[in-house]
Amino acid sequence: MRIKTCFILLVALFPNLDDSHAADPETIAIIGTGDMGNSLGPKLAEIGYRVIYGSRNPSRDYIADLVKNTGPGTTAATQLEAAQAAGIVLLAVPWPAMERVAQNLGSLDGKIVIDVSFPFEQGPDGYPQSAVETSSAELIQGWNPGAKVVKWSLPTAYYIDQPLALGRRQLNLIASDDRVSKEKVAKISAAIGQVPFDAGPLRMSRAIEAQVLLFMVPLYQRRTEHWENTASLSSYWSCFWQEDWSEPVNDAGELAKFPTVQSQPTPCSEFPPDR
Ligand SMILES: NC(=O)c1ccc[n+]([C@@H]2O[C@H](COP(=O)([O-])OP(=O)(O)OC[C@H]3O[C@@H](n4cnc5c(N)ncnc54)[C@H](OP(=O)(O)O)[C@@H]3O)[C@@H](O)[C@H]2O)c1
Repeated sequence: MRIKTCFILLVALFPNLDDSHAADPETIAIIGTGDMGNSLGPKLAEIGYRVIYGSRNPSRDYIADLVKNTGPGTTAATQLEAAQAAGIVLLAVPWPAMERVAQNLGSLDGKIVIDVSFPFEQGPDGYPQSAVETSSAELIQGWNPGAKVVKWSLPTAYYIDQPLALGRRQLNLIASDDRVSKEKVAKISAAIGQVPFDAGPLRMSRAIEAQVLLFMVPLYQRRTEHWENTASLSSYWSCFWQEDWSEPVNDAGELAKFPTVQSQPTPCSEFPPDR
């Protein structure tokens, strides 16, 4: 009893001690309320997360409508307040704003911080190029060493609203140095109708961002047909290379068991013998 009274007194004197209320693990702060934020918010609320939007101006009418349309329990606050209230912080701001935003959300220690950004700019030849030497996710991790940063490569916001609009679900590449956080984001991805793909450690964000850059080439050529950031499941390598494989990397854990929500890979018997 005395210990409990002491704790209550301490919390009253130092409110940050009581982190369990300050950062709810089932609350996701969406920082930025643009195309990506307003597509993800309702989907995340639908699968049971409490959403809190972090906006530069949370009191405007647009935000009130977004909060209302997202679902019960949704709120809005400043970017800093939203990040501090949540166990998961999803950064959905344009890359040029990221450096300032990601360093002004208070301590993100212990929180899952999701990076969905692509740090691209237009190069001198007219094609897009990366605006960073490593990757956005690694920079965000460097600015917030205590955070568990996860790169989550999502398709165009429209395919978050309509996951089957292209006739099949879209592949989401997910990378992190923290397996449990990566697994959590992968489960979220599957639950909102996407196809999670374990893309390995956080440094793979460079490859993820490079792949998206490549898929944007037709867009910069102003071709009407271009690629979404996706790929198809295949059993090709396991059919023909399994015996030559060396020891696997054994850090996938539960990620290796993700439900196959896309079509089944082609059975080995269906590949031509002379391939
Ligand atoms: N849109 C897509 O289809 C898509 C697809 C894949 C990845 N992404 C990535 O997702 C991120 C967000 O994209 P988006 O299309 O949603 O961008 P957006 O619509 O241009 O803006 C996102 C939001 O960020 C906040 N914001 C803008 N400038 C800011 C600044 N200087 N400082 C602080 N906050 C600022 C604004 O929210 P408030 O006004 O409420 O503060 C804004 O509505 C980007 O990094 C992008 O690469 C987007």
